Amino acid sequence: MTKFRRVLLLVGVALLVYILVLLYIIRLRPDAFNNMDATKLGARVHAERGKVTIVMRNFDPHENSIVKTFQKILGSILDARGLILSDHGTHPPITLPKSLQHLVTIAVLDAGQPHHESDAARFIETEYVVVVGDGTRLVSPDMVEKSIRHLVAGPHDIVVVPTEEGTDEDEESCEVLRLSPREWSMTLSLPRLSAAECNYFLGVPVVVTTKAAILRLTWPFARPFPHSLFVEAAMLNMSIHLCDDVLLLRKNPLVSGTQQQRKELAAFHRLAGIKKVTHANHSVDWYGCDRNTASCFAATVGDAAPGFLQQGRWAPPCCLRAITITAKHVLAMLAQHRVRHWLDNGALLGAARAGTLIPWDYDADLGINADDVAKLPLLVSCREGAVVDADGYVWESGDTAGNTIRVRYSETNRLHVEIYLYDVVEGGMARRRAAAVRAADREFPARFLEPIGQVVFGGVDVCAPNRVREFLERKYGAGVIERPVYPNASMVK
Ligand SMILES: *[C@@H]1O[C@H](CO)[C@@H](O)[C@H](O)[C@H]1NC(C)=O
Ligand SMILES: *[C@@H]1O[C@H](CO)[C@@H](O)[C@H](O)[C@H]1NC(C)=O
Ligand SMILES: *[C@@H]1O[C@H](CO)[C@@H](O)[C@H](O)[C@H]1NC(C)=O
Repeated sequence: MTKFRRVLLLVGVALLVYILVLLYIIRLRPDAFNNMDATKLGARVHAERGKVTIVMRNFDPHENSIVKTFQKILGSILDARGLILSDHGTHPPITLPKSLQHLVTIAVLDAGQPHHESDAARFIETEYVVVVGDGTRLVSPDMVEKSIRHLVAGPHDIVVVPTEEGTDEDEESCEVLRLSPREWSMTLSLPRLSAAECNYFLGVPVVVTTKAAILRLTWPFARPFPHSLFVEAAMLNMSIHLCDDVLLLRKNPLVSGTQQQRKELAAFHRLAGIKKVTHANHSVDWYGCDRNTASCFAATVGDAAPGFLQQGRWAPPCCLRAITITAKHVLAMLAQHRVRHWLDNGALLGAARAGTLIPWDYDADLGINADDVAKLPLLVSCREGAVVDADGYVWESGDTAGNTIRVRYSETNRLHVEIYLYDVVEGGMARRRAAAVRAADREFPARFLEPIGQVVFGGVDVCAPNRVREFLERKYGAGVIERPVYPNASMVK
């Protein structure tokens, strides 16, 4: 071997050792990559056509570390650009350092406009979208590429990468979300077998998806994010994959006002038509109407089906709940004052079927013996004008003739219970009425009330005609308990 060759070999070996040592150091200390910032890589990133947009959606508009987060992330991924999506801008305004100016776009969405979030897609020019929270760091620079590989290989619409925070209690960091649009509800539960069933993720995961998936959404990036994304993905039956072999992110906890979050949740659920959320621990959050709001559907006229049925939906659960609470209050008052009373019509039918209101009902009917009206002063005084009782329910005349009494949930919420007055006549019990007679309102024999019967309604025993089945079939036809029909089947899509 010549001297020259020996030197060449030596240099080669030294170079190899040097490279191996360098690789070893990088593997051992991935943070070494994070410390490179966009100042050094900026020019290269800009030179290549971007494949990935890193979107920042969750940050505090007043105190944030967006610039630092983008410097770290864009410093470690080539081909990426950044997008800051803010509803109102930030105070003070974000000033990007020179190294980020050509990489990061700041988009202020007009939060006053409906569906303003769909505007956000305009700012995305890349195929892939990675949504991070303020303070997110990539522990390994190839994390984004790995998760995109999962996205493509699935193929999945969304890949979720948990942050360190979210992985503390493994099974509890993800849940199964089921939507019941007809019942305006969503239910969360723990996965039965494995996290692979999950389509809802707690904490502050990083979300990896495609522009194509974003374009399918009606409310992309709606706050609170990513809650809104998981709900809409469930609506659209999108495929979500939990990338549990890429647990490479860490995250500074986001400081966010819980009151602000509650407001955003309520606003999003209003858009999405969700009025009841049941959590995995079985606690329930109600959205939509309450005692301080008007009822959540238009008043009904005659026999026409209420508006929600025309949309193919049942009564909003908050409404059924408000009517049930009001009915139980009135039933308790009548019982307390020994006014002879019974559950009537649709409320009785619902109780006979399932111990609750019919899911598409919009009021509850009670019958009382007209001779007993004087026993409960409210029943008399409310005929002269509306009276608010000690618990905030409003008692008023249901018609000009004073033949029905209406009890409303509150002064603002018009959901109500109707109390019908019945007289003892020769043929039995006859309802006092001003208008025409419906088949359901025919007289009925007094024997149904002698003795009074009982049904379960909203979890309590309440008075009802005895032989409920016979009573209801007489009113509505044979088999009515077993065969539910909509009030006007032809109107239901
Ligand atoms: C949702 O997707 C699953 C699996 O891809 C499929 O079995 C199911 O029928 C879909 N449901 C709807 C409502 O599209
Ligand atoms: C149940 O879970 C929800 C959502 O995580 C939480 O807000 C609520 O406080 C929990 N309730 C109880 C009783 O633990
Ligand atoms: C049922 O709906 C149809 C179509 O809207 C209407 O023409 C009809 O009068 C309705 N019937 C009743 C009993 O409300």
